Amino acid sequence: MKRPKIALVGAGNIGGTLAHLSLLKNLGDVVLYDIAEGIPQGKALDLAQCGPVEGYDASVIGTNDYKDIKDADVVIVTAGVARKPGMSRDDLLGINAKVMKAVGAGVKENCPNAFLICITNPLDVMVRLLQDASGVPDHKIIGMAGVLDSARFRTFLAWEFKVSVNQVQAYVLGGHGDTMVPLTGLSNIAGISLDDMVASGKISAARLEEIVDRTRKGGGEIVALLKTGSAYYAPAASAIQMAEAYLRDRKSILPGAAKITKGQYGIQEKLFVGVPVKIGAGGVEEIVEVKLTAKERENLQVSINAVKELNTAVDALNV
Ligand code: APR
Repeated sequence: MKRPKIALVGAGNIGGTLAHLSLLKNLGDVVLYDIAEGIPQGKALDLAQCGPVEGYDASVIGTNDYKDIKDADVVIVTAGVARKPGMSRDDLLGINAKVMKAVGAGVKENCPNAFLICITNPLDVMVRLLQDASGVPDHKIIGMAGVLDSARFRTFLAWEFKVSVNQVQAYVLGGHGDTMVPLTGLSNIAGISLDDMVASGKISAARLEEIVDRTRKGGGEIVALLKTGSAYYAPAASAIQMAEAYLRDRKSILPGAAKITKGQYGIQEKLFVGVPVKIGAGGVEEIVEVKLTAKERENLQVSINAVKELNTAVDALNV
């Protein structure tokens, strides 16, 4: 039986890490595409030479030709520019909007049946532009943000409570930006919700708010430290979890920027925004609705408004 084909559009920091993880997890053959000549080819060669050591034998090639992504089963998009210190994700709007148009056209021509995972920022807007340009149906496209934001929240909570990250469950919804909405009623440490932890005095409300705030600014904290780019290990790992859920029909419930079409969460517009979804062989098989408190609903609305504003801003640019 043929191996699945995974096309990685953008062979920069995240793209290279995605390729490595795909190969280590035996997800399929990998094609690294980039506009920069030599980068995808060089990374592919280096990764192929890891094979004998790591024991993987899937093929990995690098290319500057969209024809090589023909019939890909999964396309993960990181093409574009990343943040530098002092920049917000929104500052990337104009440049990356143009890139999404080009990538979408490449997908439309070569692999219109692929499952698309968008990572390029500002995420909630880029995923919409990618759908517009590629024409893939709603259930075949998702933006990766919530898995990463939740992973950041889980990490900080595990450090705070001095427990394994495996015992921390966290939900973060909304747009991938400073308005993201960590859900403290559903997030829990070994089943005990964060709200209960506050009620029983295990953590103060103020301290929890600090952790929530650090989560919201988690990407920026890394940009400030790296100085030359943005985070890539955790973003890549998060997107691979989503790709794996699709390729192995895992039916995993994961937060992701999915297209809201049926008024879920009271969202009446057709809009991509972070919500829990079920990912399996059918792509985005379901948008899962969890109960929100009045405050969480309010915060989600603020986040949705921010996404809507950015959508309007990108439309005004007319790229
Ligand atoms: N087509 C294909 N590749 C492109 C294009 C394009 N039109 N424009 C830029 N690229 C490539 C660049 O040549 C570069 O190799 O995209 C790659 C981006 O890699 P990095 O700069 O290393 O950025 P990375 O850290 O991988 O992040 C990529 O994901 O998380 C987001 O905010 C981040 O938008 C950024 C994206």
